Amino acid sequence: MTKPAHVNTVIIDTDPGIDDAIAILYALGHAGMNVVAITTVAGNIGLSVTTRNAGRICALAGVDTPVHAGAAAPLGREARPETGIHGNDGLGGVEFPEPAQAPRSHDAVAAMQAILEAHPPHSIDLHCLGPLTNLALLLQHAPAAAARIRRVIAMGGAVDEPGNVGAKAEFNLAHDPQAAALVLAAGLDLTLIPLDATRQLRADATYIAALHATGHTPAIAVAELIEAYFAANSAESRPLHDPCVPLFAQNPQLFRVEERGLAVDVDTGALIPGPLRIKVAMGLDAPALRAALLHGLSS
Ligand code: BDR
Ligand code: CA
Repeated sequence: MTKPAHVNTVIIDTDPGIDDAIAILYALGHAGMNVVAITTVAGNIGLSVTTRNAGRICALAGVDTPVHAGAAAPLGREARPETGIHGNDGLGGVEFPEPAQAPRSHDAVAAMQAILEAHPPHSIDLHCLGPLTNLALLLQHAPAAAARIRRVIAMGGAVDEPGNVGAKAEFNLAHDPQAAALVLAAGLDLTLIPLDATRQLRADATYIAALHATGHTPAIAVAELIEAYFAANSAESRPLHDPCVPLFAQNPQLFRVEERGLAVDVDTGALIPGPLRIKVAMGLDAPALRAALLHGLSS
């Protein structure tokens, strides 16, 4: 494999989650990304399960990336899991090995702070695949460390599209609206990838067959995860929400990004017109990104 010109140093903040698992497997196997930690949050399912799943995903990928457990509940409200889509184990019942090691810590915010302080300023990217609770807590408790983040790429929200947990609300922002409002107002270099873009990147039976045909372990696991995703919904294709985050990091030219004036409705988590100038991915080149994902999972 040719060595990439630039390697992004990344913390993945996540609630795995079927599509989180696909995103993580792509990122862990990509030579252009050095994942230095995975931090977990309650979201698709409870924190103990998302944390175990992060370890299971690392075990399948054959890496010893440290996992740090984070927030067990959103700011000021109770967790509301999505077991209907992701199953009782969060990974749709797909077989994964057990974690090869225990979580490195149970304080994701302290871990993020330590990593940010140990690296040069603006050298760490944060890939947010779940509710934004951990990042909001970092902003509250260690603002100087948060200011050292290079960029945040977050899957969340619905801009012109309908939501998926309400008329306008998308799961990640709706699960912790207070955290979403804090993060969007923080002045970070943030790109939001909302449902408007992620619903365009879809996997169907042909794509599953192509993943199986590679014969590579991560690609086969992803094929099985997408098959499990279908079990929750009889549609002909399913959106790959969270993989858009690492795909955007490595292939920004395959996304159409606009700047929108937005705010977060702190009751519902919906994005509404407002004063915050936010970069949002509103379109993408789906065939090219599907090919990039397939290639990344099988090389
Ligand atoms: C988001 O919510 C979760 O169910 C998915 O993992 C994704 O992060 C999509 O709205
Ligand atoms: Ca997720």
